Amino acid sequence: MVIKWEENLRIGLPAFDEQHEEFFAYFSRLAEALEEGGGSAEVAEILPYLDKYATTHFSDEENLMVKYKCAGLEEQQQQHALFKENIARFSEQLTTTEPTRETAIKINATLIRYFINHVRKLDVKMVEYIKPMMA
Ligand SMILES: [Fe+2]
Ligand SMILES: [Fe+2]
Repeated sequence: MVIKWEENLRIGLPAFDEQHEEFFAYFSRLAEALEEGGGSAEVAEILPYLDKYATTHFSDEENLMVKYKCAGLEEQQQQHALFKENIARFSEQLTTTEPTRETAIKINATLIRYFINHVRKLDVKMVEYIKPMMA
């Protein structure tokens, strides 16, 4: 499944939208490679990026939530931690085995779940809460 980035995927905070959009670019490359029957080459590229993304983006979000005493911090933290664990597990595998299309499919599924269930739900809620206070 290839999902295209659209303007309506923006949640309304430019800093986070840029990070989500960059995430999406990597995610699309992986999804397209899978559609074309490949994917293993993209695994080595996307995992270090996702590790950085998770560290920077998640702490940016959590810090802002703390600052504005935003509801739902705990759920955000739990899901962020889970995503980080998943990425760490994939990266760990890569230290002993060559990346495969199989791994690419699993990473892709993880990213789709994260985008639909987390970005489109929890992050949207977070922005709805915080944005009026930032104005
Ligand atoms: Fe996010
Ligand atoms: Fe988040």
